[in-house]
Amino acid sequence: MFKCAIDGGAASGKSSTARHVARRLGFGYIDTGSMFRAVTLQVLRQQVDPKDKDKVMRIAQATRLFYPSMDRVALNGEDVTEAIRTPLVTRHTSSVASNPGVREVLARLQRQMANDTKQQFFKAEGYKRGFHFMPGVVMDGRDIGTVILPDADLKVFMVADAWVRAERRYKEHPQGSVQEIYEALLERDKADTQREIAPLTKAPDAIQLDTSRMQFEDQVKTIEDLIIERI
Ligand code: C5P
Repeated sequence: MFKCAIDGGAASGKSSTARHVARRLGFGYIDTGSMFRAVTLQVLRQQVDPKDKDKVMRIAQATRLFYPSMDRVALNGEDVTEAIRTPLVTRHTSSVASNPGVREVLARLQRQMANDTKQQFFKAEGYKRGFHFMPGVVMDGRDIGTVILPDADLKVFMVADAWVRAERRYKEHPQGSVQEIYEALLERDKADTQREIAPLTKAPDAIQLDTSRMQFEDQVKTIEDLIIERI
């Protein structure tokens, strides 16, 4: 099975690009950021201090994630697709993601998902449940090419000017101001880059893609072509 790892900073367009590439190629798609966000949501709901390493790790162990489709995520049976994207959850996720116990739990799940060649489709038309055998998988995050899938067939490291990323994010979710989004994403990148465990960094064999001046369609096409060249 073909494995494509896409890493990059906050709001670098990884997830939307990865999802489109996966759709076009009939690949599976795994958004690892959603896993750290879901654990963070649970931590906040249970009013646990995100810095309390043991309690946070236990929450990660008890978190059951389910992906009913490429763009929805369910946490312990509840659809939390929107709930994990609030500014509050976003702000606390880097702290939860620096917890080695949480990373261990989620890394196991991520590798298991990347190696699962079949994707289940529930409520497939006319059937109660169906399987689709996948020729490959696209996984995005911060440490996919370096830690989770060091043997990936293609590694892409996405970068873009921070102000451009803030403007794109504001267009998608017009909350607060571009300046506020800009500051929050720089802060998140700093925390993700400087943490001790699995920091955000380009794998030596990753291809760097600067999307500052690229249209979305071109980003998708570039990665799609890189995969097709290697299949
Ligand atoms: O990709 P997204 O912005 O949704 O990720 C949210 C946060 O989850 C990141 O800022 C980072 O702290 C953490 N994360 C991580 N490792 C990954 C994916 C996400 O540490 N593979």
